[in-house]
Amino acid sequence: MKKIILTGDRPTGNLHLGHYVGSLKNRVKLQNEGDYDEMYVFIADTQALTDNFNNPKKIRDNIIEVAIDYLSVGLDPSKVTFFIQSTISPLCELTMYYMNLVTLARLERNPTVKQEIKQKEFGSSIPVGFLNYPISQTADITAFEATIIPVGDDQLPMIEQAREIVRSFNNIYGETLVEPKAIIPDAEVCRRLPGTDGKAKMSKSLGNCIYLKDDSETVKKKVMSMYTDPNHIRVEDPGDTKNNTVFIYLEALSTDEHFKKYLPEYNNLNELKAHYEKGGLGDVKVKKFLYNVIEDILNPIREKRNYYEENTDLVYKILEEGSSKALAKANETLKKVKKSMLIDYFD
Ligand code: TRP
Repeated sequence: MKKIILTGDRPTGNLHLGHYVGSLKNRVKLQNEGDYDEMYVFIADTQALTDNFNNPKKIRDNIIEVAIDYLSVGLDPSKVTFFIQSTISPLCELTMYYMNLVTLARLERNPTVKQEIKQKEFGSSIPVGFLNYPISQTADITAFEATIIPVGDDQLPMIEQAREIVRSFNNIYGETLVEPKAIIPDAEVCRRLPGTDGKAKMSKSLGNCIYLKDDSETVKKKVMSMYTDPNHIRVEDPGDTKNNTVFIYLEALSTDEHFKKYLPEYNNLNELKAHYEKGGLGDVKVKKFLYNVIEDILNPIREKRNYYEENTDLVYKILEEGSSKALAKANETLKKVKKSMLIDYFD
């Protein structure tokens, strides 16, 4: 079986450190390891419109932002096919056919959807398009015969639902679709990076993000005002590192190399933690280190971003070429699906 990697993001804002550790880093790693036949990364504008249908400009403006985020973190158009979801019309057709295979109750049970419905306060007025998005996501995945889906852990229920639809389709119409598998980061801490406020997951709507696009000054301000241990008042006080956002970020982001470079009096994070827990280590010192670590990660990303921001025509061209390639592939799958469903009348 072919190894086909596929994943995407909704263009509702710039990508942040949570995306970076939760999924982008994994994607770049998979890309560079090269152990795959095809790799697709796409901008899920159709899906973004399911809960932003009244704000089309926001979605349009963020297409280029997300595309530049992708290219800046090191995803490479010579290895990855980038495309825009709404340009692939076979996805709508596949969605329509898959809708027959899913009950309303099953959609309402999807934990991620359930949580979003609550968050968005839809009450009993849930737009059909929104509730339907896990089905449309199954079309995204199956149209490319994707086997590997690198995502954040909030997407696990979507992939599970996709697998169910694939099994159901193949049962009824014969072996046609390929079952996907999700890949999430090995390290628990990377799966759900908290916001700088330490409260919930990093999320644009909560205003607690460090964006890949943030400049040095902004990153510094955000890091220096981060939530730590409220009981660690004087430097001598013993501090907690477990519920301490600064240490959680260091767990997700720092390497022993960073210690060598910026904080050579410690060999690794464990030593730093031990000192903080014992007492005698101030927050400012730890925050400055975290700032250096984040800057170390963001600097090469910024360099690439500068280039692509100066060359947005090139970015649109990459998206256009990728979209046309992706369309051809999705059409092939649609053809197979129609054949299996006995609706290939004129072939
Ligand atoms: N639901 C994903 C998100 O919110 C975006 C997405 C749409 C996706 N279709 C997909 C991810 C297919 C992986 C595979 O970010």
